[in-house]
Formats: sequence, C-alpha cells, structure tokens
Amino acid sequence: MLVIALILRGLSVGTGTQQSETHPSLSWQQTSKGGSGQSVSGSVVLDSNWRWTHTTDGTTNCYDGNEWSSDLCPDASTCSSNCVLEGADYSGTYGITGSGSSLKLGFVTKGSYSTNIGSRVYLLGDESHYKLFKLENNEFTFTVDDSNLECGLNGALYFVAMDEDGGASKYSGAKPGAKYGMGYCDAQCPHDMKFINGDANVEGWKPSDNDENAGTGKWGACCTEMDIWEANKYATAYTPHICTKNGEYRCEGTDCGDTKDNNRYGGVCDKDGCDFNSWRMGNQSFWGPGLIIDTGKPVTVVTQFLADGGSLSEIRRKYVQGGKVIENTVTKISGMDEFDSITDEFCNQQKKAFRDTNDFEKKGGLKGLGTAVDAGVVLVLSLWDDHDVNMLWLDSIYPTDSGSKAGADRGPCATSSGVPKDVESNYASASVTFSDIKFGPIDSTY
Ligand SMILES: *[C@@H]1O[C@H](CO)[C@@H](O)[C@H](O)[C@H]1NC(C)=O
Repeated sequence: MLVIALILRGLSVGTGTQQSETHPSLSWQQTSKGGSGQSVSGSVVLDSNWRWTHTTDGTTNCYDGNEWSSDLCPDASTCSSNCVLEGADYSGTYGITGSGSSLKLGFVTKGSYSTNIGSRVYLLGDESHYKLFKLENNEFTFTVDDSNLECGLNGALYFVAMDEDGGASKYSGAKPGAKYGMGYCDAQCPHDMKFINGDANVEGWKPSDNDENAGTGKWGACCTEMDIWEANKYATAYTPHICTKNGEYRCEGTDCGDTKDNNRYGGVCDKDGCDFNSWRMGNQSFWGPGLIIDTGKPVTVVTQFLADGGSLSEIRRKYVQGGKVIENTVTKISGMDEFDSITDEFCNQQKKAFRDTNDFEKKGGLKGLGTAVDAGVVLVLSLWDDHDVNMLWLDSIYPTDSGSKAGADRGPCATSSGVPKDVESNYASASVTFSDIKFGPIDSTY
C-alpha cells in the first residue's frame, strides 16, 4: 500500500491547499529603439524557502523554525513525499504589495502565525515560468525608493541563471516549479535552500545560531549572478559574479567554495565579483541623503550591457533624478586609471590596487559573464539583512580589522551597525519600493 502511494505521488514535494497561490502583478515595459515602449503584464512569485512547509494531509510542520522534522524529513525523498509547499498570503504574511508597475517589499511583517523577515521574489513570464532576460546589447532600467532603508539593510535587484521553470521539467522532485518559487541559485552557492533540484536539503542540516528561520544543509545552489542593485540609503554597488558551471548547479564539498572551510576561491563561483561602489571607488559625496543623488527621493537606475565583437565588454551605469541624467562617478584610486564603468581592465586594476584575489578574471571575466547569461537570466527582487557579516561589505569598513587597507572603506555606516537583531527591532517598518521596470536596446529606456 505504502509503496503504491509513493509511486503515485511521484516523490515530489507537493503543493498545499490551505492558501491559494495568487501572484501579485507587476507590469513592466519592453522598449524599442527610439524609446517607444509596450507594457507587459507580469507578476512576481515568492521564493519557496519562505513558504510554510507542512504535511500533505494536515498542518504539521515539516520544517519548523530552523529545523526539519526528524519524523517527516529523515531524508530527502521521504521528506518530499510527506510534505507540501503552501501558497502565500503575500501582503498579510510577507509584507509584499504590488500595484500596477510598482512593488513594495516590507521588512518585518507580523502575521497571525509568525513574524516574517524580508523576502525574495522573481518576475514571472507566465504562471509557471520565470521571465528570461537576455542582457547583451540591452539595457535594464528601474526606479527605486531607498529612503526607508537604513544601515545593514539591502534592497536588492539582480539577475541569476535559474532554470526557467524552477527545475520542474528536469527534476522529478521539483513539480511545484516556478509557480511556487523553486530553483533559486546564486554565486554564493547558498546552503540555506530547503530544496535543491527538488530534493530536501536535510542531510547535514545545521540550524543557524543567529537566525531563527534559517540553517544550512550539505548542498549549495550555485549559478552566475549579475547584481544590478544592492543598496540602502547610504551605499550602493553593482557587481557581476561568474560561475564556471552552466545554469543552476547543485554543489557539494569543495565545489561550493565555502569560506568557512578556507576554500572561498576553490569553488565553481566567483564569490567576490567585480563591484562598482562609488564610495569605495573614491567618491563619498555621490550617493546618500541630500547628496548628488538624494536617496531621500526615488531615483531611476539605468544599466547598460555593451558588447564588442559579439561578447560582453562593458557594464555602464547612469542615474536619472529630478529629470536630470546623472553619469556614474569616475574612480579616484591611487594606482588606478579613471573608470566610470565595469570593464575587464577596471576589474583587473581594482583587484590589484586593493590587493584582492582576482577570481573574476580567473573564472572568465566579462566575456565569461556574457556567455553564462546568454540563455537568459531571471529577475530577482529582495529585501534582506545579513546574518553573516552585517552588510558591512556594502555600507561600512570591511574587513573590520583592515585598518586603512585600500578598498576596505565602502560606506559611511558604523562597523557596529547592521546586526540583524538590532535592525529587525529598530527598523522593523523598513521597506523598499521598485517600480517602472523597462528593458530594451541601449538608450531606449530613459
Ligand atoms: C562625485 O561624483 C560626481 C558625479 O560624477 C561629481 O560631480 C563630484 O565632483 C564627485 N565628487 C568627488 C569628491 O569626486
């Protein structure tokens, strides 16, 4: 009897029936040469990691707090056949609200059953497929309101090389697929994913010692990542990261490049990336409240992916605020030429000037990035705080013990800021609003 039941279930995690899954809508514009635009109706889906995971027939938690149930989830396949991913009450439970072409992500949301911290959502092309964007020779533009993001918070917008259907067609265990936000991966090869390639990441799962909702399992989920936007009111960076495996890759052991094992540069992904953060690159009067770009008000961010001879060669940034186009800052760093965009030469000189390991070049540089994103990448919008290093790598001095090491100064936030327990209590009502997404040929979106 049991054997038959398992075969019929197909050993995939299922989907729950307690809450219908209704994706918040988010429309955006596809632009054409010359600047005309066509509205595309889209929607977003919440990542599966945030979802209530409970028994198929009841409401008992398969995953509770930061631990898997040892009864229901003794191993990956038993877990999948016992458990379902539930639909999301986007605004009530997760603080996610969309309207027209705008999407707001709230930070701390107290629901009737739980307190939710941050979120991560993906743009869908249809109900069960993510929208894929082909970046080369195109530009991506959006408007962001960071005025409610203090030190330690990160309102992020980026692309990752996830499977279009969330892995549903490749992996028998991933049936809920993109409709339930499955299949996430990024260049940090996160071990905190509850399901990877449709299998529960229960083996070796260690609950976090400072995050009551998260833990880490044996597997990590790796893929190439293009960070268009990681920012708060005080700091911002854009950063490509390349992985040497095509698409989504489930890592194990040394392939994951785990920093805790002193193997940060030995995995398949370039975890450091090649970042352009105006503060770090020598301009401290550009991004912030009341500065050249006033983060007290919304700003439009343009990112151009320029190709030369068929391969990606430059990632340019422009800003628009108060009707004015504001060019990116020019680097002022001892030992470096002046740059106002990301090119291989910028990355090489920056790594050398800051004495950082040049994993970006080693893993393929911009040309490699172009190849890795060629099949199309998925748009991610998220709001998060950092349980590993308090977001100091974005907005403060990092490493904190680096004295006056070139490149360590990244933003004005205190090295004591960004502690999750502090930001979650002091800035519970924080939020980020993304709006007016446009995508099209170079110079067609602003
Ligand atoms: C910072 O960048 C802006 C925009 O490029 C420029 O106008 C300003 O002079 C720069 N400030 C410094 C201190 O370099």
